[in-house]
Amino acid sequence: MKKEVTTSSFWIDSAPLPSFPRLERDEDVDVVVVGAGNTGLTTAYLLAKAGKSVAVLDRADIVEHDTAYTSAHLTMVTDKRLSELIRVFGRDHAQAAWDAGLFALEQIDTIVRDGGIACDHAWVPGYLHRPVGRQATSDEAEAFREEAELTADLGFDARYVDQVPFIGGPGVVFEHQARIHPRRYLAGVARAIHAAGGRIYTRSAVEEFSNQPLSVTANGHTISCRDVVLATYTPLMGNSSMLETTLLQTKLALYSTYVVGGLVRRGQVPDGLFWDTDAPYHYLRVEPGKSGSHDYVIFGGSDHKTGQAADTTDCYRQLEELVQKLVPGIELTHRWSGQVIETPDGLPYIGETAPHQFAATGFGGNGLTFGTLAAVMATDRILDRDNPWRELFAVSRKSIIGGAWKYVRENKDYPYYLLRDRLTGWDGRPLRSIRQGEGRVVEQNGELVAASRDADGSVKLVSAICTHMGCLVDWNEAESTWDCPCHGSRFRQDGSVISGPAESPLRSVAHEDNAGRPPVSEERAGVRRD
Ligand SMILES: Cc1cc2nc3c(=O)[nH]c(=O)nc-3n(C[C@H](O)[C@H](O)[C@H](O)COP(=O)(O)OP(=O)(O)OC[C@H]3O[C@@H](n4cnc5c(N)ncnc54)[C@H](O)[C@@H]3O)c2cc1C
Ligand code: FES
Repeated sequence: MKKEVTTSSFWIDSAPLPSFPRLERDEDVDVVVVGAGNTGLTTAYLLAKAGKSVAVLDRADIVEHDTAYTSAHLTMVTDKRLSELIRVFGRDHAQAAWDAGLFALEQIDTIVRDGGIACDHAWVPGYLHRPVGRQATSDEAEAFREEAELTADLGFDARYVDQVPFIGGPGVVFEHQARIHPRRYLAGVARAIHAAGGRIYTRSAVEEFSNQPLSVTANGHTISCRDVVLATYTPLMGNSSMLETTLLQTKLALYSTYVVGGLVRRGQVPDGLFWDTDAPYHYLRVEPGKSGSHDYVIFGGSDHKTGQAADTTDCYRQLEELVQKLVPGIELTHRWSGQVIETPDGLPYIGETAPHQFAATGFGGNGLTFGTLAAVMATDRILDRDNPWRELFAVSRKSIIGGAWKYVRENKDYPYYLLRDRLTGWDGRPLRSIRQGEGRVVEQNGELVAASRDADGSVKLVSAICTHMGCLVDWNEAESTWDCPCHGSRFRQDGSVISGPAESPLRSVAHEDNAGRPPVSEERAGVRRD
């Protein structure tokens, strides 16, 4: 019988994690790390190993957010081609960026070996190849050849191949990349933090920061410290000024990316990392199965700016069709999505955003690599050690060739979306016509309201105005969430924050209890009729 495809991630389903307590008393430590994904846990691990007292705080459980929805290709190969990085930053800086990635891969390998962590870590080759589903042109083959030569010229182990294994056609092979099971790996990292005396608190959202003295507050309890590391993916304001935070946040572009996964015959897909040159690109890898007969294939892509896809369900459909052609007989079991955060110049921001406050964001599709790098850089900063990449990834780095133009392009749609949503958000249909799993922005008593129907049939009403900077949220049908097209905040149907930059929930909008009766009627909601 055909199995139901679940929207939880394969990593969550295949590795339950230990639970940790809530923060329930005041404390004093050397370093507070906010966020328990890969970036935060790796930072805490390195600091605890270096003898610092550390407390990690997460508003959810550990490794529940983007790190649980990754595809976990470990690579120095950035989303932006090396040739493009060279054009923007020059050879030395481009090389330094890839060096930093390679260094992060080595760091992960060291942590795995030091802790004896069983997490399916393996060094595998990575392949850049023609778009899935079509032949490469001779120009494309030549471009692969040039990219391979350039990469090798900068000292990385890469070469041109006429036939990429499994996919076919020309491409570039990058040796010495890796794969990992992110939740098994971070379960081991969390255990090592605990063993080194570090503390991990979950269900403890940091709600307040103070710099006199330096401290954070969660669950009404305060932890004072000497340094804070913000590892929250989208950066919190912390002790920075509103202006600095806004400037940083408006430089970030959030993209939704989608993954489908399923069981294949053992060995049907070779062990390696695959990316094509489509725009947006597709990515594929295999996770060896625990049973003798099957492996697990992960295939992703269909990226779009968060909140800007007309039909997010279609993103999954496209991936499913492609992967079924690529891997005939695949038994699809999962589909999931998450976000990647892009910067105007293609490199992350990692560094201090206020005195004794370190932040890291803008990792693109290399969040495990750059998040690990950020952990190393935060540790170096706190231990007052030099770090070769400090200036390259500095949050305040000056705009560089091409950066100013891209920055404008990424943000020009802000007023456009404000205008478009105000004009078209209300389509005149009554609330009653909202189907289960559907959401729509409607007008109620002169207020724009995000209305959606739950699985149990009731309508949830929350303000449609994003609490970050006031844009109108959009319904994401695939995930049943409200997504903001401006800077990518995401909210649940009840308005609570899934991911920032917004830090406050969408205000709930009152309506009478509709249990046992039809959901809120257009008359009660004060909605206009055609
Ligand atoms: C589909 C997909 C495929 C990807 N593929 C790859 C890939 O192949 N390779 C790769 O390197 N990267 C990939 N990425 C990117 C990568 O997964 C992420 O960049 C990375 O996991 C981010 O890790 P993080 O620890 O910085 O953030 P997260 O894992 O999001 O952790 C941040 C944590 O901060 C917590 N938090 C937020 N606010 C607060 C608060 N106020 N108080 C307390 N806690 C708070 C959150 O609850 C969360 O647990 C992919 C991403 C997606 C979505
Ligand atoms: S995320 Fe910035 S306005 Fe919504």
